Amino acid sequence: MLNIYVIHGPNLNMLGVRETEIYGRLSLQEINKKITTLANELKLEVAFFQSNHEGEIVEYIQQAHYENVDGVIINPAAYTHTSVAIRDSISSVKLPVVEVHLSNTHSRESFRHLSHLAAVCLGRIEGFGAHSYLLALYALHNYLHAKK
Ligand code: DQA
Repeated sequence: MLNIYVIHGPNLNMLGVRETEIYGRLSLQEINKKITTLANELKLEVAFFQSNHEGEIVEYIQQAHYENVDGVIINPAAYTHTSVAIRDSISSVKLPVVEVHLSNTHSRESFRHLSHLAAVCLGRIEGFGAHSYLLALYALHNYLHAKK
């Protein structure tokens, strides 16, 4: 079975409470449940990780390489716009990584328009709320099966 890591960055543990007009009312647990349901349908195995710490996210991406994970979905949250370290970890592991955002970052403040990660990711899905994660899972599933 193909194995996917789903990584949630800083403050996403507060979904459902945090700026609900932007990020919606679902909690992170509820979003993870939706991802798990779709993963079961697509016969993918998913593992979830959330951290508010940049270095922990870097280490988890490295772990994806050492554990021979097939692909990664990441919402790097605010680290999207600041983290060269997370970008370098993605280039180091050479895994298909899909960048996800709940909101359309390009319709928001200009500091959110830059993603340090986009260029080293397979693709990027944003603006569809929790559904962005499901679209990313479909995309990764399709990519991995086409590659086989
Ligand atoms: C976000 C967008 C980021 O700009 C922001 O810092 C987040 C969430 C999103 O999912 O829309 O924390 O990644």
